[in-house]
Amino acid sequence: MLIFNNKTDLKAQLAKLRETNSGVGFVPTMGALHNGHLSLLKESVKHNSHTVISIFVNPTQFNNPEDLEKYPRTLETDVDKIKTVSEDIIVFAPSVKEMYDDNITSANFSFDGLENQMEGRFRPGHFDGVGTIVKKLFEIVEPDNAYFGEKDFQQLQIVKKMVEKNNMPVNVVGCPILREENGLAMSSRNQRLSEEDKTKAALIYKTLTEARQLFDSHSVEYITEYVNNIFKAHPEFEMEYFEVAEEDTLLPASIKENKKYRAFIAVFLSNIRLIDNISLN
Ligand code: PAJ
Repeated sequence: MLIFNNKTDLKAQLAKLRETNSGVGFVPTMGALHNGHLSLLKESVKHNSHTVISIFVNPTQFNNPEDLEKYPRTLETDVDKIKTVSEDIIVFAPSVKEMYDDNITSANFSFDGLENQMEGRFRPGHFDGVGTIVKKLFEIVEPDNAYFGEKDFQQLQIVKKMVEKNNMPVNVVGCPILREENGLAMSSRNQRLSEEDKTKAALIYKTLTEARQLFDSHSVEYITEYVNNIFKAHPEFEMEYFEVAEEDTLLPASIKENKKYRAFIAVFLSNIRLIDNISLN
């Protein structure tokens, strides 16, 4: 397995592989890998001659310094997990200096308003940080296909928008959310939950599936109140937002039209921020 810390060496290796005209798939991550990440890798391995995974905890997308500091960094076990998918996957694990030199700042992006909804409202600057790092990584790896999870659905839509607006020659592929047996969406942050909290956190997906069942026959207003009441009755959770939004624009849904809708949620449990979403129709 090839592991690069340096972008020049990675680019040289990829240039060599491209001489045979074969395609490159790319999975950007921040490490602390779980089966959700591995499902993206498997998808890439299936559809591309070569797959690159990046492992980089990107400082510019953290609006909370404590969250950045506490983010798990587990490169050795990550590499072992990657090997279970394929020994041929190329790992890019750069330092902060390699990616940002001495200028750890974000560029300013416009994603046609997608950045102002949900996560954008509660995590100022987050999507500028995501746009900055994903653009840098795309310029280094130059992938044909790039794989992103629907777990971060707003991020997926934002990356698609960035690619479209800048005519980047990358096909962005969205992949389904992998869940624990109790329904909890897999996340690197789950490592910080106690066993008891992991059990309690099943309420999030359970409530989202109820919202989906209600969607056909009830108003968005009713569903929103229903979900808020459930979390009020479980004060160990602190609700940040619950929103029913249209998939393409991420604008809050009011009157239902002939469009695709999703329910999105962000809650705190024991100070850990958990997000999830579900397709409603
Ligand atoms: P990270 O949180 O490590 O996630 C990397 C990729 O894995 C993202 O595309 C995310 O949506 C996907 N993913 C996470 N949990 C998943 C799950 N349970 N099922 C399916 N896919 C899942 O997202 C980031 O890193 C960063 O913002 C990044 C894009 C790497 C830029 O720094």
